[in-house]
Amino acid sequence: MPITTCIFDAYGTLFDVAAAARQAAEEPGFEALQKKWPELANHWRLKQLQYTWLRAITDAHADFWDVTQDGLDWALEATGLDGDDTMRQRLLDLYWELQAYPEVPQMLQTLKEGGLQTAILSNGSLPMLDGAVKSAAIGDALDDVLSVESVGVFKPDSRVYDLVQNRFRCERDEVLFVSSNGWDAAGASGYGFVTAWVNRAGEPVDRLPWRPAHVLSDLTTIPRLAGL
Ligand code: LAC
Repeated sequence: MPITTCIFDAYGTLFDVAAAARQAAEEPGFEALQKKWPELANHWRLKQLQYTWLRAITDAHADFWDVTQDGLDWALEATGLDGDDTMRQRLLDLYWELQAYPEVPQMLQTLKEGGLQTAILSNGSLPMLDGAVKSAAIGDALDDVLSVESVGVFKPDSRVYDLVQNRFRCERDEVLFVSSNGWDAAGASGYGFVTAWVNRAGEPVDRLPWRPAHVLSDLTTIPRLAGL
């Protein structure tokens, strides 16, 4: 089947999740972050994701914003940066205006001009995603923003991937699903989407029963994979 619909994970895929800690580290008053921001960003992201999986399998869903704060609090304590409420608040504020990767606007524009349907499918709540989409000015190139909040469970639960077909009325193999998260690309492959794993860091592929159809180093070749 030709690809008709391109679906993007948000955090880590379109938006650079390390940008909040990196940017705060450059601001006056947060000198303590200058050496530690990469470690903080790494812990923050890993804990945030672990909490989504644990909440999904224990049927204890919480909004992604709560999980993001829980992950940050763990990361701040682990790096000895806890106790500075101003820094904590600044890091959280920056999460609402994360930078998009540089190739994102042009790539989405090319897909739209080529007649593809485009959307985000994310663990993020709609207000969080709305903030990031507005701050990156990519709203015009997206047909929709789909959040797990409408099914109340995190990825890779299949009810999340069902949201794509419910919205776009397409077959699974018409969907190109793009994620920088190996486990998300694997889950979506198992579901039946054509998948592209954006592996910017050159990590090994996840040892799961499903593999991504494509492995990319950034998003520039997505229009080609979509048949343009
Ligand atoms: C998302 C997380 C997984 O945007 O990055 O869904």
